[in-house]
Amino acid sequence: MDYTNPSLTVISSQVQAGAVRWRSPSNIALVKYWGKHGDQLPQNPSVSFTLSGAASDTTLRYSARKEAGEGVALELYLDGALNPAFTERTQKYFQRLLPIYPFLKQLSFRIETSNSFPHSAGIASSASGMSALAMCLVDLESKLFEAFPDDATMLHKASYLARLGSGSACRSVYGGAAVWGKLNGLEGSSDEFAVDVADRLHPTFADYHDDILLISKSEKSVSSRAGHGLMDGNPYAEARYGQARRRTEEMLTVLKNGDLERFGELLESEALTLHALMMSSHPSYMLIEPNTLKAIQAVRLFREQTGHPLYFTLDAGPNLHLLYPDSIADPVKSFIREHLLYFCEDKMYLADRVGKGPEALEVSEA
Ligand code: PMV
Repeated sequence: MDYTNPSLTVISSQVQAGAVRWRSPSNIALVKYWGKHGDQLPQNPSVSFTLSGAASDTTLRYSARKEAGEGVALELYLDGALNPAFTERTQKYFQRLLPIYPFLKQLSFRIETSNSFPHSAGIASSASGMSALAMCLVDLESKLFEAFPDDATMLHKASYLARLGSGSACRSVYGGAAVWGKLNGLEGSSDEFAVDVADRLHPTFADYHDDILLISKSEKSVSSRAGHGLMDGNPYAEARYGQARRRTEEMLTVLKNGDLERFGELLESEALTLHALMMSSHPSYMLIEPNTLKAIQAVRLFREQTGHPLYFTLDAGPNLHLLYPDSIADPVKSFIREHLLYFCEDKMYLADRVGKGPEALEVSEA
């Protein structure tokens, strides 16, 4: 896919100031992407559930640029305050997008963004944030130029753009579930953008729960970027990439047939494999904490004693995601309150569900 398009320029003085606004959710990988190459391309395919509650709300305001300049003219406001670090990161991102969207340096931008989850929840906001921004960009393209022929074409491009900002963000543009990475037997799958696999989900997964135990709300000590980089020298890397490919294929089968036991086995092994890869990197590092392990032991004991299909996964951090069907929501919520909150910082957890993907919102007054 080559989205390079030198003809997407505007006559700056003729552009009416305006804005677009999107809310886009985070996602949780069931089979993890860990290791990349080239321009944000994955070393292996991955599959995720799109979440609902954990989301970013982003408004992209644009106006004619007064003086032409080399860089892009952009300011980013997080929760109403100018954020210099995110401004710089987003300026660099827009700069990289210039071959695709040359008009980005002809306009001035003000981006206002906020997250539904608490700022210090230790939850990565890059998947929701970058996917919300990518949705704003394709929306802006269709306003300034031509409308996309259909939603699928628009979402492919949004996914491609989101990937360039943060790999896992490319899966957040679809509701339900998404696969990123070229996979045998999955038509249309690509390393460059994610594809929608919601129509392959067994009904039990349609409103699956993901409760996130906030074991620690601190910022993580090693970024995902550095973590992906360390996979290059990891002695298990090649075996891992093959395993993840096979597991993505198998996970798709399981998502279709609703075999919750196998789903859970794969899910938990993926979480532990991700963290084992971190521990076996050079230099070695650890993002899980003693309370992560205590909560894992409690979840396994609960499963043994009740027979309920409650399974966990982890992102690149210490917080434990608990995945389970709606049919066992009551006993699981009591279990969390009575036995797991003790392991959480400030006794906090976020209750989330599989969701429907990004939505356009009404723009509020500047
Ligand atoms: O998208 P990144 O570069 O933040 O990497 C995310 C990697 C994991 O969250 C650990 C796994 C995944 O596939 O989302």
